[in-house]
Amino acid sequence: MGPDSSKNLLAYTPMLHSRLFTETAKFRDHHFQPTREGLATRPESPSNQMSSKPYLDGNPSTDRPLIVQFCANTPDELLEAAQYVEPHCDAVDLNLGCPQGIAKRGNYGAFLQEDWDLIYRLINKLHLHLDIPVTAKMRILETKEKTLDYAKMILSAGASFITIHSRRRDQKGHNTGLADWSVLKYLRERLPAETVIFANGNILRHDDIEKCLEDTGADGVMSAEGNLHDPTIFAKPPTACDKGGEYWPGRHGKGGYRVDAVFRRYMDIIYKHVLEQPSPQRSPLFTLSHQSNQTSRGQVSTDEGPKMDSQPPKKRQKGDGKYVKPSSPNLLALQAHLFRLLRPLVTKHTNIRDALAKSRAGDMTAFETVLHMVEDVVRDGLLDYESDPAKYDCEVAKEKTVQSNEDESSVATVKECRRPWWVCQPYVRPLAKEALEQGSLTMSKKEKRKPKAETVPESAEPEENGKSGRQIPDVADFMQQKELPAQGMVCG
Ligand SMILES: Cc1cc2nc3c(=O)[nH]c(=O)nc-3n(C[C@H](O)[C@H](O)[C@H](O)COP(=O)(O)O)c2cc1C
Repeated sequence: MGPDSSKNLLAYTPMLHSRLFTETAKFRDHHFQPTREGLATRPESPSNQMSSKPYLDGNPSTDRPLIVQFCANTPDELLEAAQYVEPHCDAVDLNLGCPQGIAKRGNYGAFLQEDWDLIYRLINKLHLHLDIPVTAKMRILETKEKTLDYAKMILSAGASFITIHSRRRDQKGHNTGLADWSVLKYLRERLPAETVIFANGNILRHDDIEKCLEDTGADGVMSAEGNLHDPTIFAKPPTACDKGGEYWPGRHGKGGYRVDAVFRRYMDIIYKHVLEQPSPQRSPLFTLSHQSNQTSRGQVSTDEGPKMDSQPPKKRQKGDGKYVKPSSPNLLALQAHLFRLLRPLVTKHTNIRDALAKSRAGDMTAFETVLHMVEDVVRDGLLDYESDPAKYDCEVAKEKTVQSNEDESSVATVKECRRPWWVCQPYVRPLAKEALEQGSLTMSKKEKRKPKAETVPESAEPEENGKSGRQIPDVADFMQQKELPAQGMVCG
């Protein structure tokens, strides 16, 4: 989002497992769709791949620049995987940052960081044999000095630039804590000026981007979680009159883009690019300035597009038989993305949370119904705010006042970031100490036996199979289940 955003933006694919990518056509088809025919051809014949019309991933008209990211521990496998995607992207990235248990068991991601020789060979293989650049994403190590040596080694292997997640490998889950930008600054000052560095970590809001660039001297920032919760993170507030009403100005500068507007945009992208059918006709977004013409949410025309009503989808019927799960990664990701976007809203409006939870991948009618429910409550929220804005300011001020020492807690950040529930906003993770106090994190028996000073629980990170001592209620719990990594594709 944002009028000039495309000039400065670059996207990464999720991390793809290089071995599965080379071995399994189905895995390739389900995770990377540059043409309708997929990537059936052998990498030795990239010209064949180019003869097909571009479809979604790496499409020059919509999806470039694009970096495809792999995890790997075998140079030949990584090269073969990279050759499949080479005609459809601008660079291939090696993920050396994934800290999850599955990466430990599979020996990739951040668990290679003790084996510099292997890392060198992985990167160098691509550097020597690909026609496009190779890049790498790394975490910081125990000391600044060691991190600098590590970065130099990666660059010497042929990485064209590096993305540095300035957290250590053990900083994950509830032990995530803050990223240490001082390490980035240290590296910036010691690496050659022409070395390109992307900074990663601690980017919650739009303003953090500029601050990070200034504080660290990095050339760009990478955002993951901030962008998932607030897809407008790269957009400035509109400068001229925002005729469509997508931006809610709020009071005291605490405005933001409306979730219903972003939800609509997301749906329209799916209709246009994935389903290649027209979106349902929609009335203009409800705005206070036009409310006399819009007593309620505009009805959806049923002339074209799916037929809608405002009732939440019925409970899933066991064995109702006809549902076929789509294979498109775009349709499969929609629900989880919406839970992120709508987190503050569905925490308040649990009927919408339930309706979203019941919406099955590919059932656009169900998602349209959720959109209508969201539009209705946003309209009511905006009207309610107009009649009593102080009520909402109080709600924000009440947040987590139980914490006494703001320096050692997330309180100040929460206060800074919190917006009314109809506005896109980041999710501020509680620090491990706070999560323990709130009871949303419990210690394992092993942790309980440790002396008090050591009790920030490393093992409290939820495992990929969902088994852990962690107890997070409602939406987060649901999202946790939904974000289980698909076979061979993990996040981290
Ligand atoms: C849901 C989710 C999926 C992620 N998947 C990947 C991934 O595939 N590859 C990767 O390098 N990092 C991945 N990450 C980690 C982020 O790139 C990033 O390093 C980390 O979240 C810290 O940055 P942030 O504060 O902007 O989220 C993922 C993070 C999240 C929350």
